[in-house]
Amino acid sequence: MSGERTAPGLPAGRIGKELITADEITARTAELGDRITADYQGRRPLLVGVLKGAVMFMSDLARAIRIPVEIDFMAVSSYGESTQSSGVVRIVKDLETDIRDRHVLIVEDIVDSGLTLRYLCELLTARQPASIEICALLVKDGAQADARYVGFPIPPDFVIGYGLDLAELYRELPSIHVFEPDA
Ligand code: PRP
Repeated sequence: MSGERTAPGLPAGRIGKELITADEITARTAELGDRITADYQGRRPLLVGVLKGAVMFMSDLARAIRIPVEIDFMAVSSYGESTQSSGVVRIVKDLETDIRDRHVLIVEDIVDSGLTLRYLCELLTARQPASIEICALLVKDGAQADARYVGFPIPPDFVIGYGLDLAELYRELPSIHVFEPDA
């Protein structure tokens, strides 16, 4: 795997060092699944995956939980001209499930600034779920995250793979890598 990819508009660079291996993701996901299984005994949580980044983690996490769950997805998009999250998000795809009185577990690939999750929590809380918690695979150092379940704290590098993209590429990589832009 050379890591070299070119396309119009794609930031020049390459797949850098492997930050978290596929085996480490599998092991940590199993641990999170065990905790969620224990915490939600007697309930049937609704896992809410935030597209697109969370799709790999969502499917592996759901299979690591050993109680019945339901799954649904939302897609949101940041507004504005900035490549950084503004915290103002537009719903691109809403839930199909009525979450009133449901135990909602939001599943995210990464918490960066935390603004997306803050907005989502406010939005979903207004729908009066029985409970709402967050499970995030990655949380960047310094992020404002109130996640009950966290896979890995990571440094503030730009990361790709296992669902995380750069300009829609690299999501299919089985592990998490740092993206190394050309100097
Ligand atoms: C990413 C990620 C989170 C959000 C985190 O989504 O999946 O939803 O950014 O950033 P924040 O904590 O600074 O708000 P992105 O908008 O890149 O969409 P994607 O999941 O489709 O790649």
